[in-house]
Amino acid sequence: MKQLIVEGQHELTGEIKISGAKNSVVALIPAAILSDEEVTLYNVPNISDTKSLLDIINLLGGQVVYQNEMLKIDTKNIKNKVIPEELSKKLRASYYFMGALLGKFHYAEIYFPGGCNIGSRPIDFHIKGFKKLGAEVIIDKDKYIIKADKLKGAHIFLDFASVGATINIMLAAVKAEGTTYISNAAKEPEIVNVATLLNNMGAKIIGAGTSEIKIEGVSKLGTAVVDVIPDRIEAGTYLIIGALVGKDLKISGIIEEHVDALLSKLKEMGVKMYVDSNSIIISRPTKYKAINVKTLVFPGFVTDLGQPMSVLLTQAEGTSIFEETIYENRMGHVPYLQQMGANIKVNGQTAIITGPTELTAKEVTATDLRAGAAMIIAGLIAKGTTTINEIEHILRGYENIVEKLSAVGAQITINEQ
Ligand code: EPU
Repeated sequence: MKQLIVEGQHELTGEIKISGAKNSVVALIPAAILSDEEVTLYNVPNISDTKSLLDIINLLGGQVVYQNEMLKIDTKNIKNKVIPEELSKKLRASYYFMGALLGKFHYAEIYFPGGCNIGSRPIDFHIKGFKKLGAEVIIDKDKYIIKADKLKGAHIFLDFASVGATINIMLAAVKAEGTTYISNAAKEPEIVNVATLLNNMGAKIIGAGTSEIKIEGVSKLGTAVVDVIPDRIEAGTYLIIGALVGKDLKISGIIEEHVDALLSKLKEMGVKMYVDSNSIIISRPTKYKAINVKTLVFPGFVTDLGQPMSVLLTQAEGTSIFEETIYENRMGHVPYLQQMGANIKVNGQTAIITGPTELTAKEVTATDLRAGAAMIIAGLIAKGTTTINEIEHILRGYENIVEKLSAVGAQITINEQ
């Protein structure tokens, strides 16, 4: 078991470079198997979710070269295989192999996916989409069997603009006969990144990044190259850290429009930032205004930054409200913040946070990935040394987090027990 040890109240200065986006790369790797040749991804983050997906690529017979953030996947010898539970359970995004295998082989057999415990996380929209394309979906104990004689383009309306369902349906539809329309599609930047890769392979997708996506089926997909977009959640996490303990802390490699909602909230709180092309320089102000934050689909305030943001709200003067609207269980970090001294009242998925409160170091647990990020942020501002347990969650999604924070002056180490 690994722990993080964080000594609080050090000022951070210098530069943190943002890595490739976890939530893009976890879809781009399964998407790669739709090619009959070779796919190259640049800016691939070295996180445990990447490794877990490459284990699945290896199982299917793909040849992988992963060096200096460049990932080449030769898909010529890919064969269809059952994706076993020990691989599918490691992360949520293993479910993208449903769409990719269905699109390529018209057959997918895969155990239920894993991922953070942040709500019930059904995948009924993915399943409905596959069925609309002509597939039969069988649930056999804890495994999905998805098969089709042929896939035919269809008009699919999503009840909710789900990121996962939009991507999975694109993967299943790119080689279907005819044209597929996804209405009320999710608009997150990760979807555009996946559509770009597929189009570079030869797919015909238009409208990715809007709520209406049109996919004209093609019979063959070939060699392609794409850059993984910068991780807007990682960027947002470091911006929040900069707002709390930064002194001219430079966060570089950001696409500003991807973090617009966060920037506007930070400004509302009184945080000063200088935007310089793709970098943001941020410093801690003397005080923060209380604000309200409600998580929404893109371009709204992203759910993955709600927990980190709630730590910043403990330092604002007055009462702030943080409302989570995407998942049912994004408050796992709150009991630990309360133990550290935060004044937070939770009512369902709404937290009422009154500040400012000084936080005191405690032994805490990363109950999920972003709760873990929130615990690191709390540790960085707390008085004393915070110990964070179950940091495997954090390492799934933040590349070199200890190295990046240490390089700008944080006192943070990993303790391997
Ligand atoms: N939903 C359904 N049915 C479905 C699909 C989704 O009811 O078939 C519900 C979900 O239960 C949830 C909401 O719709 O309440 C949104 O789910 P969505 O499908 O958009 O999310 P996801 O694809 O499961 C991805 C990221 C999440 C991120 C969300 C929202 C990956 C692997 N995961 O999840 O990332 O929070 O989009 O942006 O890309 C994280 O990185 O910590 C994380 C949880």
